[in-house]
Amino acid sequence: MDKFKKITLNRDLDEHLYTQLYNSIKDLIINKDIKAHDKLPPIRKLADLLKVNNITIVKAYSLLETRNYVYKKVGSGTFVAPMENKNHLMELDRLDDEINEDIRLMDRGQIELRENMINFASATPTPELFPVDDFKKVLNEVLDRDKGMAFGYQESKGYFPLREYIVEYLKIYGIGTRTENIQIISGAQQGIDIIAKALLRHGDTVIVESPTYTGAMATFESRGAKMLQVPMLKDGIDLEILEKFIDKYHPKLIYAMPNFQNPTGYSYSMKTKKALLELANRKGIIIIEDDYLTDLDFYTDESVTLKSMDRYENVIYIKSFSKIFMPGLRLGFLIVPISLNNEILIAKQTSDISTSSLIQRSFDLYLRKGIWRKHIAYMNKIYKERFDVMVESLEEYLPEGTTFIKPKGGTNFWIGLMDGFSSKELYSHIVKKDIAFVPGGVFYPIEVDSNYLRLSIADVYPDDIKIGIKRLSQAIADFYQKKNVKVQKKSRYRPIL
Ligand SMILES: Cc1ncc(COP(=O)(O)O)c(C=O)c1O
Repeated sequence: MDKFKKITLNRDLDEHLYTQLYNSIKDLIINKDIKAHDKLPPIRKLADLLKVNNITIVKAYSLLETRNYVYKKVGSGTFVAPMENKNHLMELDRLDDEINEDIRLMDRGQIELRENMINFASATPTPELFPVDDFKKVLNEVLDRDKGMAFGYQESKGYFPLREYIVEYLKIYGIGTRTENIQIISGAQQGIDIIAKALLRHGDTVIVESPTYTGAMATFESRGAKMLQVPMLKDGIDLEILEKFIDKYHPKLIYAMPNFQNPTGYSYSMKTKKALLELANRKGIIIIEDDYLTDLDFYTDESVTLKSMDRYENVIYIKSFSKIFMPGLRLGFLIVPISLNNEILIAKQTSDISTSSLIQRSFDLYLRKGIWRKHIAYMNKIYKERFDVMVESLEEYLPEGTTFIKPKGGTNFWIGLMDGFSSKELYSHIVKKDIAFVPGGVFYPIEVDSNYLRLSIADVYPDDIKIGIKRLSQAIADFYQKKNVKVQKKSRYRPIL
């Protein structure tokens, strides 16, 4: 027991207590501080010693057993296993650490790519698609035209001519608005952040789709909001559950991506869009509509925005230019109902004073020259080709029991493994095959062991899509064969109240 007295567990770390304990005991075993066939302390005794729940000890012991560091004798307890295959175990642990690090990074919206990896994880367009030459011309023109003005602070609401042009541009999308309603932002992520900063107080409740965009969850969490998850069905948010949650928990906001949702790629039907607007109006709740990808609409003419149908001024619309133009511009805009204008403006001012003057002026010129139409048409062509190859490849190669619902546009595909199989486990299985994807658990506020995974075509060329899906499908088939990776099926949504 003395050896175990030295173990310290830190509740302030992100890492679970049971994995900290697992690592500490594993170190005792590897360093031979405890020897083969030594008995581990009884669960309750160790729990008392370390001042943790019994369950923490149970989980740590089970993980040690799964990794063959210990063995159990029914009725007698848990014992240290002989260490013949220590190297193999340490290799397993190293791989596990790498995978957990990958997933932690994905949680924060990043991925570290290894050489030659086919990257279905990233949702950012391949850089050679960026309209660099056209942008270079407008940048130079703005510098010649505006000189030092281009480097001053811009008004916090945004460069007036840009807001003016956006009002015109929105008419094409059936949205009628005015310059007073337009708030320029440094990317959609900032839009979510300043809305949360302006409208949420600690302890307020926000409804999110389940699964949903990780960056939005991180923002709501950072504002101390509670998130309620409502399942995303193939034709949009589950309205029945939504209404029940609204009545029971009185949320302040609903955060939604009605077209080509991230991560599922599903879109709300027209019926669901209308019903959601009507419901939000009846209950007096504001909807944040995150429109990050409506432009990539390949097979529907239903991808209209909620904002274009918002007769009650209940929707704050967020438009990102990242996915269709260039993420590094850090540019987007909000359409804010007049009643919220001031609060949003103050939140923007206290975030970064204003979005870059040079970028706003250049983008304004880019829009006014009409180059954006050509670029959107080009992106549509490129992505439709990738989209079609992806659909064909999934239909051809995915093994039986693996599902996906064909989206009508966008870049994301939501793949369901057979019940009971974990996409995180699949990730560790496939890492050596050089395919990256995002395990579905990342898209829930509390990481769950989901059997779904997100594949994105944003950063993969058509030939690689075919090769990658073939390889991935083979790996999934192998994975199904390994019955010992079966995991408990978890519910797909869970309110955290
Ligand atoms: C749904 C969604 N909203 C917002 C963002 C952030 O976009 P931006 O680069 O404009 O901040 C992303 C980025 O991936 C996204 O997927």
